[in-house]
Parts: sequence; C-alpha cells; structure tokens
Amino acid sequence: TRERAANIGVVGLAVMGANLARNLASREGNTVAVLNRSRSRTDELIAAHPEAGFVPAHSFEEFATSLARPRTAIIMVQAGAATDATIDELVRVFEPGDIIVDGGNAYFPDTIRRERAVRQTGINFVGAGISGGEEGALHGPSIMPGGSDDAWETLGPILRSIAAVAEGEPCVAHMGHDGAGHFVKMVHNGIEYADMQLIAEAYDLIRRGTGKTPAEIAEVFAEWNRGELESYLIEITAEVLRQVDAATGAPLVDVILDQAGAKGTGAWTVQTALSLGVPVSGIAEATFARSLSAHPEQRAAAANLPGPAVIPDPADHSAFIEDVRQALYASKIVAYSQGFDEIRAGAAEYDWSIDLGAVARIWRAGCIIRAQFLNRIADAYAQQPELPLLMAAPYFAEALGRGQESWRRVVIHATRTGTPAPAFSSSLAYYDGLRAERLPAALVQGQRDFFGAHTYQRVDRPGRFHTLWSGDR
Ligand code: NAP
Ligand code: ATR
Repeated sequence: TRERAANIGVVGLAVMGANLARNLASREGNTVAVLNRSRSRTDELIAAHPEAGFVPAHSFEEFATSLARPRTAIIMVQAGAATDATIDELVRVFEPGDIIVDGGNAYFPDTIRRERAVRQTGINFVGAGISGGEEGALHGPSIMPGGSDDAWETLGPILRSIAAVAEGEPCVAHMGHDGAGHFVKMVHNGIEYADMQLIAEAYDLIRRGTGKTPAEIAEVFAEWNRGELESYLIEITAEVLRQVDAATGAPLVDVILDQAGAKGTGAWTVQTALSLGVPVSGIAEATFARSLSAHPEQRAAAANLPGPAVIPDPADHSAFIEDVRQALYASKIVAYSQGFDEIRAGAAEYDWSIDLGAVARIWRAGCIIRAQFLNRIADAYAQQPELPLLMAAPYFAEALGRGQESWRRVVIHATRTGTPAPAFSSSLAYYDGLRAERLPAALVQGQRDFFGAHTYQRVDRPGRFHTLWSGDR
C-alpha cells in the first residue's frame, strides 16, 4: 500500500513528458505518478527532481495502483506505434470512468480511431494537442484538448493549472470531441510553417534588395517586433540573425545549410485542406518551399537557368523595407485567414463545435505562433462568431487596404529581380482571387463541358446546361 495516491500520471518521460510532469508537480495539490518504458529514464527523473515528489512506477500495474480513481494519465511518447502500444497497456490496467490523454503529436484521424476504440471499454480517451516545445511543457504550454464533455469536466481544472496564461486567461479550451484537439494543433503547425516562410522571404528580399548584413536586418526585425507584427517568431528571427558562428566569425545564418527539414505536420495540414477543399495556399507554399530547398541535386541542375537581365535596386531602402513589412503583415493575415478557414471546414466535416475565438485566445501564449495579432482574431470572432472569412473582418480588411499597394510593389520587385517569394505572391493571388467579381472558372467549366459533358450552371437562370459544342464528335 502506498502512502499517497497520485491524482495524475504521466507515461513517457523524454523531454516533453518529463517537463510536463515537473510542471504538474509544481502546482498546488498535485501528486504525479510517472512511468517510462525504459526504467532508467524514470530513475533519472526521480533522482534529478526530488522536490517534485513524484510517485515512480515501473510497470503499468504499479502505475494504475498508484493513481486515485477515476485515474487520469497523460501519454507523452513518440507519436505513432508507441502511442498505440501505450494505450493498449493503459486500457489493460485502467477501469471504466478513467481518463487516458494523448498529449503527443498524433495525426487527428488516428485520434478519432483511438477514441472510438477506447470508448468501447468505458474508459475516456482525450487527444490533446500540446504546443510550446520543452520550455512550454515546463512553464506553460498552449493546450488543445478534444474528447468528451465528461472527460473535459475532470481534466479542465488540471490542464488550466499548467497551461500558459495570456492576459489572465489560461491557454486551454475544449476544442470539440474526439480528434478536434489534434486537428487544431495540426493547423497551428501549418500556420507556423506559413508564418516562418513569410518571415524568411521578408529577410531574403531585404538582404538581396538592400545589401544589409544579417546583423543589420536583425535590427529591422527587432524594430518590427515593437509594432503590429510583435510575435515570438519575429523576436527569435532577430536573435537568429544576430548570432555569429563561433568557429568562423561569419553570421551563423550563412553557415547553416539552406535545406529545411520537416516532421510532417505541415504536409498533414495541406493534405487535409485538399480533401476538405479549402485553399490554404500560403501554408502549402511554405510546405513546398521546404521541400524545394531540400533537393540539392535539382537545385544544382537549375543553377545555370537564366535569371532576369537587369537587377534593379530599390532606390529608397527605407521605403522598400516598409513595403516589405506591409507585405509581410498582409500575407500573414491571409495565412491565418486560410488556417482558420480550414478549422471551420474541419469542424463542419467532423461535427465539432469549435469556438474559433477561443482558438485564437489559447494561441496567445505558450505556443510557437503566440502573438499580439491573435487578439485581433479573437476580437473579430467575438464581434461575429459566424464570420465567413477572417480577412474580410473590418480590422483585417482595413489593414489589407492599407498594405496592398506595398504588397504589390514587393511581389513585382521579387518577380523582376528573380527573388523567390512564393508565400508572398501566392497570398496576394489568393487575395485577388477572392476579391474578383468574375473568375476564369467560367472558362474552366466551359472546357469541362466541352470534353466531358460535365455541364455548367448559368448566371441568368437555374438548372444545369450542356452545350452541343462544334467540336463534339
Ligand atoms: P519522443 O522522442 O517523441 O519520444 C520518446 C518517448 O517515447 C520516450 O519516453 C520513449 O521511451 C517512448 N517510446 C518510444 N517508443 C516507445 C514504445 N514502442 N513503447 C513505449 N514507449 C515508447 O519524445 P518527446 O520529444 O518528449 O515528445 C513526446 C511527444 O510529444 C511526441 O508525440 C512529440 O511529437 C510530442 N511533442 C514534442 C514536442 C517537441 O518540441 N519535442 C512538442 C510538442 C509535442 P524510452 O525512454 O523507453 O525510449
Ligand atoms: P509546437 O506546438 O511547439 O510547435 P511541435 O510542433 O511538436 O510543438 O514542435 C515545434 C516544432 O518542432 C515543429 O514545427 C516541428 O518542426 P517541423 O515539423 O517543422 O520539423 C518540430 N518537431 C515536432 N516534433 C518533433 C520531434 N519529435 N522531434 C524533433 N522536432 C520536432
């Protein structure tokens, strides 16, 4: 028999799980049971943090015994097969009414499948997106839980106690049932890809267009961080650009190999958007830009393809930098608008009632895309919960109106100088596409009817029509 029962447990004690367990243990009233597949990790954690008062377990049976009922356990193991294996073990030793939380980066269809399977046993399963990396896990992440309302009732107070806090509000909210939390976390990462790519394009345009050094451009970003662009990603960009390589004395950014990696959440966001029919072109361009960078053999093969003959320099560097800032802000509005559109479409498809304003509020602290800007999004949904298009909300429409001439000049400059700016330009094309009174989609419909008798609708009367084209055979 144990001296004290734990009220919460953590399984998986690599960096994320260990930090989350320490965060939980630091909150008044919590006693945390811990378990890891390899015993050494558990022992190391216990030895390193006696102050946490962890209740160590070395088997799932022992883990279950150490938890007060209804039991609540958070899984923080490698996403995929390890998560399934851990769930199986917990289901074996847990009882109806207990709660299993998967805090890993699961793909939301897996979460939907797991929730359905676990529910059959009477045990609650909650897929929760946990954002903010290891620092977030330790000091306060942004948490996006799915699962049932019943599970949320028990889990809510615990998650609220460990989440990041933005303007006095904990950065956690129940997103909706089954896979809703992991869906929202996925889109968060997609938006993160777009935000990072847009910042990278801004840096490249300024560097090539003005000849400023990375350290000088760091000052530009530091300045931007004092205005409407204020965000964690802009802040760390200044720090990355300021960094000097200890070995060579060169700016570190010039020493880092220019091939971007990816763990796949951006691709998931885009694949899901494609099947939902939501044009997340900014996120897609950002994901493809990483893929393009990671093909050195193709880049070598293309290196001698001709570029523009004349490379005009922007005459006024400070005006050009301000244009880039405006273009960045406008493109960022588009990226977030597209991301929220994907969440709206996902909620409709999977029957989740996701509060989009709450999504913006829980992203204000603890996650990578944390920013002032998210308050504007929360305001827009507070004013109009059924907003059909975020970028058309008054504040954003005004900002786009203010920035669009700069945006166009920057895209023209990029095109004329041969500076790749796929996220800037595709965001502008999306903006113009949605704005257009008539789209050449009419011609596409004509072509479809011509070769496949797919029929079309008319602007002047209802019904479906097929033309006997002269080319019909
Ligand atoms: P990780 O490297 O993704 O996973 C290591 C943990 O998984 C260890 O506890 C390991 O146990 C366990 N594990 C691996 N295979 C297993 C198996 N077959 N059966 C049981 N346990 C197994 O660790 P992490 O970086 O801390 O991430 C944990 C989760 O959080 C992941 O889903 C990750 O995607 C997600 N996440 C990570 C970050 C981040 O910034 N790193 C941020 C948010 C979310 P052993 O010690 O026995 O090997
Ligand atoms: P966060 O919510 O903090 O963004 P995350 O997505 O798990 O949490 O991690 C932050 C970044 O670390 C992600 O954008 C992901 O990068 P890429 O997809 O761009 O590669 C990366 N990341 C996520 N899980 C990881 C893991 N297990 N190991 C290494 N990097 C990881």
